[in-house]
Amino acid sequence: MAGTPEFAPQALQTLRRLRFSAATAAFQIEGARTLGGRGRNIWDDFVDDPGKVIDSSTADPGPDSYHRSAEDVELLAGLGVDRYRFSISWVRIIPDGKQGTEPNAVGLDYYERLVDELLAAGVTPEPTLYHWDLPSGLEATGGWLNGDTVHRFGEYVDAVADRLGDRVRHWYTINEPASTSLQGYALGDLAPGRAMLFDALPSVHHQLLAHGTATKILREHGAAQVSAASNHSLILPETDAGADHAAAAVLDLIHNRLFADPLLLGEYPDLDALGIQMPIRDGDMELISTPSDVYGLNYYNPTTVHGVAEGPLPFEMVPTPAAATTGFGPLWPIRPETLRDFLIDMRTRYGVRLPPIVISENGASFPEPEACTGPIRDDERIAYLHDHLEAVAEAIEAGVPIAGYTVWSLLDNFEWADGYTQRFGLVHVNMETGQRTPKSSYGWYRDLIASVRP
Ligand code: BGC
Repeated sequence: MAGTPEFAPQALQTLRRLRFSAATAAFQIEGARTLGGRGRNIWDDFVDDPGKVIDSSTADPGPDSYHRSAEDVELLAGLGVDRYRFSISWVRIIPDGKQGTEPNAVGLDYYERLVDELLAAGVTPEPTLYHWDLPSGLEATGGWLNGDTVHRFGEYVDAVADRLGDRVRHWYTINEPASTSLQGYALGDLAPGRAMLFDALPSVHHQLLAHGTATKILREHGAAQVSAASNHSLILPETDAGADHAAAAVLDLIHNRLFADPLLLGEYPDLDALGIQMPIRDGDMELISTPSDVYGLNYYNPTTVHGVAEGPLPFEMVPTPAAATTGFGPLWPIRPETLRDFLIDMRTRYGVRLPPIVISENGASFPEPEACTGPIRDDERIAYLHDHLEAVAEAIEAGVPIAGYTVWSLLDNFEWADGYTQRFGLVHVNMETGQRTPKSSYGWYRDLIASVRP
C-alpha cells in the first residue's frame, strides 16, 4: 500500500493562503423528490425515463440529505472546512418555475435551517443557485434556449436572497454552464437530453445572462462574494499534426473561452469560423461581465482531441496518455500538472482582468463497495487530491492569484447519468440506508486543513 503523500514545506506554506471547502449539489444528495411541496425539474424527467441512468437509480433517497443534513453539518465541522458549497433546488423554492408563483415556504425553511446549522457550526455557507436542475415547466418553454428563463431565474434568486441574504454572503450563481450547453443541449448525455449540436449555443448566452442577473440581485442584498463555477479543461492535441492542433483550438474555444472570455473580458471569442451567432442584445455583455469577486473554476482532467475532417463536429475526444485513470476510465485521466498549466494559462490570457481564482470543484471517483463493512482506505483519492493541491501551490508560486480550494465531494452521491456507479465522496454513503462512513481521505483532508491553520 502506498504511503500517505507529504507536501514539501514550501507547498504547505503556500497552501496556508487558501480557504478550504467541500461541495455537493441538491439533486445529487437530497432525495425527497416529492416532499415539501417540491416541483419537478429536468433531472426528475431524466431519471424517470427508463434507460437514461446507467444503473436505473433515481437519486431518491440517495444520501437523503433532506432528512440528514444535521449529520452532514457535523461531518463538515469535523473536517474543519472554512466553507460548504451546496446547492439550492430551484423547484423547492418555485415549484413550477413560472412567473408569479408564490415562493414555497417549506423549501425556504429547509435551506434557512441548513444555513443556520452551518453558521452555528462555524462553517461559512456558499450556496450555488443553479446546479443543473431547471424546472420542467421552463424546459417545456425552451429552457435555456429561451431568454425568458433568465427572468424566471432572477425571480427565484430574488426570493432566495430575500430570505437568506442577511446571513449568506458568499454565492455561486450557475454551475458549469459548459456542461449544460455541451452535454445537456448539444450532445444530450445529460438533462435535458437534447442533441442539437451547434444550435444549442444560445443556451450559453442565456446562462451567462442568468449569472449576471443573479450577481446584480445578490449584490443588492449585500453579497460579499459572487461568481459562477465554470468547468475548464486543458485541451491537448493527440499529435503534432496540424489537424489535431486545429481540433484542440476549436474545443478550447467552445469549452473554455466561450465562457471565460465573456465573463472576464465582456466579449465572446471570434465565433465566425464556426458559423455561430449569439443572440446578443444591448447591455448583455456588460451584465455578463459584471465584475466578480473571484473566478470559480471546476477542474478534473485534461481532454485530448483528434482532428476529424468530416463529421458533425471537427474533433473527437481520445484517451489522454496517463499513468493512471479514475473510475471513469481512459477519458478521465489523472494528470495534475495540467491543472497547474491551465491556471497559468488563465493568468496569461486574462492578466489583470482575472480576479482571484477559487477552485470550486476538484476530485475523483474510484471503484468502492456499495456497503461499507470496514474502513475504506481510498489512497488513490488521497494521491489525486494531494497532487492537484500541489499543482495549485505551484500555480500560486508562478504568480496566479488563487484564494480557495474545494473538494468534490463531501459525500458519495448521485453521479447524474452514471447513477451510483461513481463514488466521489470523502465520506462513503450506503445508498440503501443513508449511513455515512468517513473514508481515509476525510481524515487526510482534515489533517491537511489543521496543519495549514495558524
Ligand atoms: C459537476 C458535479 C459532478 C462532478 C463529477 C462536475 O461536473 O458539477 O455535479 O458530480 O463534476 O462528475
